[in-house]
Amino acid sequence: RTFHIAAIPADGVGHEVVDAGRTVLDALASDSGGEFALEWTEFDWGSDYYSRTGRMMPEDGLEQLQDFDALYFGAVGWPSVPDHTSLWGLRLAICQGFDQWANVRPVQFHPGVLSPLRKADQTDLDWVVVRENSEGEYSGLGGRNLSGRGPGNEVAVQSSLFTEKGCERIMRFAFDLARKRDHPKVTSVTKSNAQQHGMVLWDEVFERVAADYPDVDSDRCLVDAMAARFVLHPEDLSVVVASNLHADILSDLGSALAGSLGLASSANLNPERRTPSMFEPVHGSAPDIAGHGIANPIGAIGSAALMLSHLGLPAPAARVERALGAATAAGALPPDLGGTATTKQITATVLDHL
Ligand code: NAI
Ligand code: MG
Repeated sequence: RTFHIAAIPADGVGHEVVDAGRTVLDALASDSGGEFALEWTEFDWGSDYYSRTGRMMPEDGLEQLQDFDALYFGAVGWPSVPDHTSLWGLRLAICQGFDQWANVRPVQFHPGVLSPLRKADQTDLDWVVVRENSEGEYSGLGGRNLSGRGPGNEVAVQSSLFTEKGCERIMRFAFDLARKRDHPKVTSVTKSNAQQHGMVLWDEVFERVAADYPDVDSDRCLVDAMAARFVLHPEDLSVVVASNLHADILSDLGSALAGSLGLASSANLNPERRTPSMFEPVHGSAPDIAGHGIANPIGAIGSAALMLSHLGLPAPAARVERALGAATAAGALPPDLGGTATTKQITATVLDHL
C-alpha cells in the first residue's frame, strides 16, 4: 500500500532532521519487498513563509493536509517571528485544528549514550509521557489590556481550560497504553493544591477512570515533586499523564535525563483517526546550531518509527528502532551527546544497520 505523507520541516534544524527521517523511511520502503511505499508532499510553511505572506501557513492549510495519511513535522520558530505567533500559527494550529488530543512522548535510555542518570547508576529508564494536547494551559483563552487603564497598568489573563470529557479521554488513553506495557502503571501529575478548579476536576476524573482499570497501578504526584522524582526515582514510573503545560516541561526534562533533547520523539494523535496525526521530534528549531549539519536526528528518526506504527507497520517501525540503537551503540553520536558525528553521518550509520 502507498501512504501519502505531508512533510513540514518548517524552521531551523527542522529541515536537517526531517531530511534525515525521510532518508531512513525511503530506504526502508524500497527495501520492504513491496509491503509499503511512501509518497511525500513537502510544504514550505514556517517563518520564511510568514516573512513572504504574513501567515505561517495558508488560510486553507488544514484542508490541504486533511487527506494525508500522516504528517511529518520538523520544528517551528525563528528569531524573525515572535514565538507565540509562529507556534500558534502552525504547530498549535495543526494540533488543535485536527484535534490531535493525545501527545505521546516516550523517554528511554539509548545504547551507548551516557545519561546523567546512568552516571548515578540508575539501571533503567522507560517511560511514556502522555500529554493532554488540546486544552489545559494552552487553551488560548484570555487577553491583553484588560484593565483598560493604559500603560503601566496593563492586566493580562491566561486561562486554563479543563473539560470533564477532555480529562477523561486522555486518562483512558493513558490507562489503555499502560495495560500493554511490562509495568502497567499510570501516574497523574497536577498542581491541584494550588490550582483548585481545573486541576481538582482532573484529579476527580483520574480517580474515577483509575477505578475502571483495577489491573493497572495508579498514583498521583504534584508537578514540583514530580520534577524531583524524575531525577531521583525514575525506576518506579511507567506512564505519566499530565496537562499540556506540565507534560511539555516534564518531557523535556525526561529527554535531558536520557541524554539530550535531540533524542526525544513524539506523536500527536487523533486516536479516533478522523484527521491525520502528526509526528515530530520534541525539540525546537535550535537556531544556535541550525545550518551547521550537526543537529541530532535521533528524535526525528524515532518519530518516523512512531509514524510507521501508527500506519499499521509495526515490523518496519521496530527495524528503525533497532537500527537507531545499533547506531548509537556503535558510537554514532552527535555533539549534543558528546560525539562528533554529523547529522548525515548518523543517518548513514542508521541506514547501515537497517
Ligand atoms: P530548542 O529545542 O530549539 O533548543 C534548546 C537547546 O537544545 C539548544 O541549545 C539547541 O541547540 C538544543 N537542541 C535542540 N534540538 C537539538 C537537536 N536536534 N540536536 C542537537 N541539539 C538540539 O528550544 P529553544 O531554543 O527554546 O527554542 C528555539 C525555537 O524553537 C523557538 O522559536 C521556539 O519557540 C521553538 N520551539 C518549537 C518547538 C516545536 O516546533 N515543537 C518546540 C520547542 C521550541
Ligand atoms: Mg516543549
